[in-house]
Amino acid sequence: MKNRIKILLVAGARPNFIKISSVYKELKKIHRFRPIIVHTGQHYDVDMSDIFFRQLQLPKPDIFLGIGSGTHGEQTGKLMIAFERICAKENPDLVIVVGDVNSTVGCALVAAKMNTRVAHVEAGMRSFDRTMPEEINRVLTDHIADFLFTTCEDANSNLRREGIPKHKIFFTGNVMIDTLLQYRKCAQQSKILTTLQFKKNNKIQKYAVVTLHRPSNVDDPVTLRRILYALNAIAKKVPVVFPMHPRTIKNIERYKLGRTVHYISKVPLPQLVWKESPLLAIPPLGYLDFLNLISHATLVLTDSGGIQEETTILRIPCLTIRSNTERPITIKEGTNLLVGSDRDQIVKTAFKVLRQGVVRKRRPRYWDGRAAQRITKILLEKL
Ligand code: UD1
Ligand code: UDP
Repeated sequence: MKNRIKILLVAGARPNFIKISSVYKELKKIHRFRPIIVHTGQHYDVDMSDIFFRQLQLPKPDIFLGIGSGTHGEQTGKLMIAFERICAKENPDLVIVVGDVNSTVGCALVAAKMNTRVAHVEAGMRSFDRTMPEEINRVLTDHIADFLFTTCEDANSNLRREGIPKHKIFFTGNVMIDTLLQYRKCAQQSKILTTLQFKKNNKIQKYAVVTLHRPSNVDDPVTLRRILYALNAIAKKVPVVFPMHPRTIKNIERYKLGRTVHYISKVPLPQLVWKESPLLAIPPLGYLDFLNLISHATLVLTDSGGIQEETTILRIPCLTIRSNTERPITIKEGTNLLVGSDRDQIVKTAFKVLRQGVVRKRRPRYWDGRAAQRITKILLEKL
């Protein structure tokens, strides 16, 4: 029998854990593959990391690099040094990276320079906005990867336009949606709606959910204030809950914008909280609570990449607080609307959606729960 194929599966940040979940589980089904989870430590808080491993029934990472936060250069540099040591020791046959975070590009670059084959899951997405750190990460990773697994046909076209040979590109679908479909039922057990007082006597009231973490929105105090004012205006019509990313929590504190939100660092919440503060900020939620929360929302406002996709599948209206998206399929086929970061535009569109909703046109092709299966099958044939 041939030797087993050793695969380092890299994850560093919250969305990565959700994406590797289905890939890891499919690889594990095939005896020829020996997947090893490498957690870079880019995200490290319990509610940004451990909780996802626990809820998604993933084993503890085999290797933990403990990189932590820093400037782009610092963080990427540290993770390259640490990952190079791991590659030298483990001598993997393949390194799989997912998404577009610093851990993605750093580890892909190390592997490529060591002549180890690289697979990029979620290749080919483009916002065409190079001021966005993720866009740099996507372009660089795609140009050094050997296997490029895409979520939609637009991504294939982007890659072909950039001269990536056809034989490296595989349209396999969306692994984040694999995880959503796998855990959707389980998420219904979450008590978050009752905790937040959105569900009473088995009735669910109208509410909106917000997430924000893009540097373009939350690192600039003027933009952040403008968005928070817009959210306050929306909160006058419908309660708004805001599970806050640590970057955003820190910036709200730094820019002394605390008065624009009511931040409760712990759930369960005190009674009557909604009457006093219809814009309620809470710590980041675990996957199952968050999935349940967005599944029943009247409206989601976000600058997240993954949440644009999840709301498309859940048929929940999504207002994306950005001027561009690398996921145009969620607008063409899903429930996503781009609203930018202008206060009036956000409020006006939110009010319209609260009145009328938005219609989803269709489920994007291959967002069907079997993307990781397709990826595994291709790797089995090609390696
Ligand atoms: C990163 C990714 C972004 C992705 C997001 C998902 C890059 C360049 N950015 O952004 O593409 O959409 O993750 O959530 O890779 N922090 C904590 N605890 C943590 C993690 C972070 O307090 O567990 C704080 C630190 O102050 C840190 C800041 O958040 O400096 C930003 O973290 P970082 O990983 O650099 O970027 P994100 O904004 O999380
Ligand atoms: N998510 C979560 N808890 C939260 C906010 C988001 O579990 O409080 C999940 C969400 O369902 C999605 C992923 O985290 O699967 C998106 O991560 P994030 O927005 O941090 O990153 P992006 O997708 O923008 O890279």
